[in-house]
Amino acid sequence: MKIHLETMGCQMNRLDSELVVGRLLAAGHEMTDHRDDADVVLFNTCSVRDQAENKVRARLGRENIRRSKPPRSRAARGRKPIVGVLGCMAQRRGEALRTKYPCVDIICSPGRLSDLGDMIARAAADETVTALDPDRKAAREANPDFDALDAGRNPNVRFDPGAPGLTAGRSAQAYLRVMRGCDKFCTYCIVPYVRGPEISRPPDDIVAEARRLVDAGRTEITLLGQTVNSYRHTAAGRRTRFSDLLARVSAVTGLRRLRFVTSHPIDFGDDILHAMRDLDNLCECIHCPAQSGSDSILKAMGRKYTRADYDRLIGRAREILPTASILGDFIVGFPGETEADHAASADLIRRCGYKNSFIFKYSPRPGTAAARRLADDVPADVKRRRNNELLAVQAEVGLQHHRRLVGQTVEVLVEGPSPRADKSRRAPGARPGTADPAHIQLIGRTRGDHIAVFEGPPALAGQYVDVEITGATSLTLFARRPDSVRHPTPRVGVS
Ligand code: SAH
Ligand code: SF4
Ligand code: F3S
Repeated sequence: MKIHLETMGCQMNRLDSELVVGRLLAAGHEMTDHRDDADVVLFNTCSVRDQAENKVRARLGRENIRRSKPPRSRAARGRKPIVGVLGCMAQRRGEALRTKYPCVDIICSPGRLSDLGDMIARAAADETVTALDPDRKAAREANPDFDALDAGRNPNVRFDPGAPGLTAGRSAQAYLRVMRGCDKFCTYCIVPYVRGPEISRPPDDIVAEARRLVDAGRTEITLLGQTVNSYRHTAAGRRTRFSDLLARVSAVTGLRRLRFVTSHPIDFGDDILHAMRDLDNLCECIHCPAQSGSDSILKAMGRKYTRADYDRLIGRAREILPTASILGDFIVGFPGETEADHAASADLIRRCGYKNSFIFKYSPRPGTAAARRLADDVPADVKRRRNNELLAVQAEVGLQHHRRLVGQTVEVLVEGPSPRADKSRRAPGARPGTADPAHIQLIGRTRGDHIAVFEGPPALAGQYVDVEITGATSLTLFARRPDSVRHPTPRVGVS
């Protein structure tokens, strides 16, 4: 069957989608970029904010209409695509999804994705299928199969939901799950409810998967966990901390770059910072969300650290890893957030000198402690303003961070054509008439997770090359390959 899969949400969902695609291809299905062409339409969903769920609702509304109307074209006649809702929203809403969207044939939680092939076969025989994860307690006790999806991975299958279709042979990057779930229960967050308890995978399995990925040409691996640095595993009396795991994966021959996301401040020990200093292929990049710069808000969020604790962590990181890129997340408009609390978040962004921050407006999630106990009392327009203010502060800080790299020569992993390459085939600053017509605008990623835009032949995709940084905005670096034509003045500006 022809399958169309759309992915919303975080890296964990992107990885799940890739693993699902591997299984479906192995079972003889085909993938298609075109929804109208598909026999099966799948949505891998996210529940982290209402906006993410709205996106799914819009898609399902459209499928509902499509199913109730007679087909418009002859090609579509007789086609009634199977519709599946996968992932976090499937787990959160369960059977209730069907009440509003009768088009939904399959409801499949994140932990049951390894059975999706069977579910599609059942749906093709006109069954409706609902497969949800057990409750947190049962999941912890009786889910030995929880990493069946990862264990059956075909490392040659690449599926980047960010780009259309299968990206076979193109990407040298891969995600690798080291743990599932979350036990932190930040008061605003739905993840512990939809992704279940924190369960760390056995280190031997993780190392073996890394080896298979590298053998398949995937030389940059990003270890994934909701709070990846909380990883811990004990078997036969042998304890593996996250820093031990980093050392083991880092030793896989041929692995050029190792990364990990996302970290929780309370589990970020010096052992991890020392691993980042000492392991050559471990990239100096830390994504460790603060969420707020105000102690009273951090307390209400249940984050279990103070602003002074967070400052100490960043101070240690800067001391041990002076050139590291640090990334953060912030929520604006959490219940009770005052202007002073908000100013404390802006200050924290300035103090930390983040490379980038992801800033979100608080969205109450049904069933979480904050939604149950605290009124969503910051008005929408105030949330919007605070969001814009933090974005503006981050843009300043991000520009300073990126500018420091101008003039340096750094290694990038070439990801492929710049998404903007269609609009302008020339890298900014390139002199007209001197660029090679066989070259296009490429993007590459530095070890510090900066995006660099430069000109080069498309065949560089998947390779590591040195580029000289010639200019910067708050989010992007402009670069040239040392053997290409030098352009006169570095461009520095705000994007
Ligand atoms: N596990 C990761 C990320 C979780 S979700 C971590 O703990 O860092 C990604 C981000 O979404 C969070 O860091 C937080 O900033 C934001 N987020 C989570 N729940 C939210 C909510 N209810 N409203 C707004 N933003 C939220
Ligand atoms: Fe959500 Fe907090 Fe867990 Fe991150 S650590 S996934 S924000 S509960
Ligand atoms: Fe969204 Fe689920 Fe990830 S709620 S952020 S897709 S874990």
